[in-house]
Amino acid sequence: MYYSDEIIEEVRSRNDIVDVIGSYVNLKKKGNSYSACCPFHHEKTPSFHVSRDKQMYHCFGCDAGGNVYTFLMEHENMTFPEALEALAERAGVKLPEKSMSPAAKQQNDLRTRIKEMNRLAAGYFHYLLKTERGKRALEYLKGRGLTDETITRFGLGYSDMYRDDLYKYLKNKGYKDEELKDSGLIRFDEKQGAADWFWNRVMYPIVDANNRVIGFGGRVMGDAKPKYINTQDTPIFDKSRNLYGLNYAKKSKRAGIIFCEGYMDVISMHQAGFDNAVASLGTALTPGQVNLVKRYTDRVYLAYDSDGAGTKAALRALEIFREFEIPARVISLKPYKDPDELIQAEGSDEFERRIEKAQSGIMFEIDILAGGYNQQDPQERTEFQKEAAKKLSVIADPLERNNYVESVARQYHIDSGFLKETVTQYGIAGSPHRTVFQLRESTGRRTEDLADSGLKTERLLLTWLINENSLFDALKGKISPDDFYEPVYHSIAEELFKQYEKEGKVMPAAILNHYQSKQEHDKAAFIMQQEFELEIAPEEKEKTITDLVRTVKERSILYQLDHAKGDLARTNELMLEKAQVQKLTISLKNK
Ligand code: GTP
Ligand code: MN
Repeated sequence: MYYSDEIIEEVRSRNDIVDVIGSYVNLKKKGNSYSACCPFHHEKTPSFHVSRDKQMYHCFGCDAGGNVYTFLMEHENMTFPEALEALAERAGVKLPEKSMSPAAKQQNDLRTRIKEMNRLAAGYFHYLLKTERGKRALEYLKGRGLTDETITRFGLGYSDMYRDDLYKYLKNKGYKDEELKDSGLIRFDEKQGAADWFWNRVMYPIVDANNRVIGFGGRVMGDAKPKYINTQDTPIFDKSRNLYGLNYAKKSKRAGIIFCEGYMDVISMHQAGFDNAVASLGTALTPGQVNLVKRYTDRVYLAYDSDGAGTKAALRALEIFREFEIPARVISLKPYKDPDELIQAEGSDEFERRIEKAQSGIMFEIDILAGGYNQQDPQERTEFQKEAAKKLSVIADPLERNNYVESVARQYHIDSGFLKETVTQYGIAGSPHRTVFQLRESTGRRTEDLADSGLKTERLLLTWLINENSLFDALKGKISPDDFYEPVYHSIAEELFKQYEKEGKVMPAAILNHYQSKQEHDKAAFIMQQEFELEIAPEEKEKTITDLVRTVKERSILYQLDHAKGDLARTNELMLEKAQVQKLTISLKNK
């Protein structure tokens, strides 16, 4: 269900942020702003602020910030539509009816029925585990160190030996064969009729981020093969877009999300206190899964098996995290095979230490790379160094890149000057910065050739505009949203200018509605919440703002020039504009 911008904005504007946050947190009024101890991190003195004017909140301690939607999404772990629905109800705004075609309605009904069947099956398996019939399964789980509490928390169960035990149970509940066939729980064989998909296995219900049972993993209680059977894809179960344990992990107070390989690893880690662990569902990690966690965290850890297959899977996972620009670290489990074994053998303190010592993704990759070369042989050593330089050249941030170059040089006894030079060469020759490049393609704008200082100027100018609306008049005709090149900044500028044109003022919190990716949202929120206090003389102010505008414009023109190569008329036009920029002045008089 998609809601229109108008509805989103209406619901937002009808829920005063001070009232909403005030119902969760004890806010103290201080001038125009309200403060409290931050609900997102632990603190003794209040650094969490809510502004009624801007309809935004911000914590100076942990940098959490946003509008009323963000607050509910972060504090209550709601998705955006959930937050919207909750706030609509709170303010008595009636949301448009979900209109559906008959076919869509039928499909929706089937999905609802499948969800019910899965929930019933989970309840039934869990019930069996506690009966005489499930005794061996319960013993198996206890034997693996699970407490009653953990077994209940994860809803673990047992599927009985009979070939149609669950089938009979669900038939009794009134489900028809066609529905059962689509549920993934029962299969139909021409000769033998209906049979349960799972039998005589320990059952792990797979629960989605909204706490609904969508499928199962079933494990044999011994060494038989296959060790696990999983639900096949059904209308509600998509292995590539769900993660085991995410329903709990998304609420965790621990930093980041830990990815591991097995269901048992997740359960064991949660029991040991690491309730931010998740696992994929019997397949390799997918971009869809990374996209899913992006909503909940800004960093991840990999705790994959320490064997060859686990290492390979970790390398592939790191590539995906890089594409999504999520910083990843790798936890070493050696000499143990998986997180479960490590925790059983050494306990949670040791696991905590392993998290602290986790290696950054790139250092892990270079370590693995190094293992493939004989470092005593000059030729192989050279090849290794070249490959390492290639990897380092991909790091977009110059400061970060330099720090890693130094680290690698130190660790592998390479002259850091030489290494730096090689990295630079690859940076120019190769096609690095792939992710940034993609961003540009998708938005039609580029960021990679703007130095950091350029971005800072764009940001500063936006912050100033937000805090001093009269500036819009002074800048009229002198600068436009198209002069902002960073994609998020560009879209903020567009919205701000539009709002001011229409309303004569700006409403930063409304702009935040547009950003539903955490990364973009945070970037936008950062600009919006900044307070701006300039204690300088008016003439100084004019000079400063003029400089800012000139810098932003100049960069915009340089970029366009770069792209007008060959187009003589356009180039001339831009050269003229560029000359004009130097003469451009901003006057703040009478404003
Ligand atoms: P335990 O042996 O119970 O400790 O399992 P584990 O949680 O350590 O799982 P393991 O690392 O052996 O496997 C990782 C994941 O791969 C499992 O959680 C399953 O999702 C999947 N998997 C493992 N074995 C099989 C199999 O035989 N068939 C299928 N389809 N998936 C499997
Ligand atoms: Mn295991």
